[in-house]
Amino acid sequence: MIPNTLLNQLEWHEEYSVKDQAIDLNHQHLLIKMKTLMVSAYATPNNSNLSVALSEMIGALKIHFETEDHLVNQLNVSKEASAEHTKHHQEFLEIVGNYKKDLVANAAVSSKTILNMIARDLIEHIKIEAAILKQP
Ligand SMILES: [Fe+2]
Ligand SMILES: [Fe+2]
Repeated sequence: MIPNTLLNQLEWHEEYSVKDQAIDLNHQHLLIKMKTLMVSAYATPNNSNLSVALSEMIGALKIHFETEDHLVNQLNVSKEASAEHTKHHQEFLEIVGNYKKDLVANAAVSSKTILNMIARDLIEHIKIEAAILKQP
């Protein structure tokens, strides 16, 4: 089973809002995608399923980051905040990419553990953005 705390965090919460509708909507979609992938991977937890789920999530994150970079340019944020934000994206993709490498290199890695970690990273991402990008 997906841990209850995690399931709850994957629901939309007002504290996640950056007060920009387009970005919030993007984050809501990512949370739903993450939850959907987790539910199906938990139903049949094997590494090939997880590998597909991971690739899908990495793809969704890349698209999200590109979209978001454009949206952030239209927001009222400092150059520093914008740079920090872009750096945060690169770090996130690196982390998820490393999970995928671990998975290929080590079949003993638990698919559930990796999905839980990505879900936590995603929630963290959304919270960090709420802190960096929040609009008045
Ligand atoms: Fe972002
Ligand atoms: Fe984001």
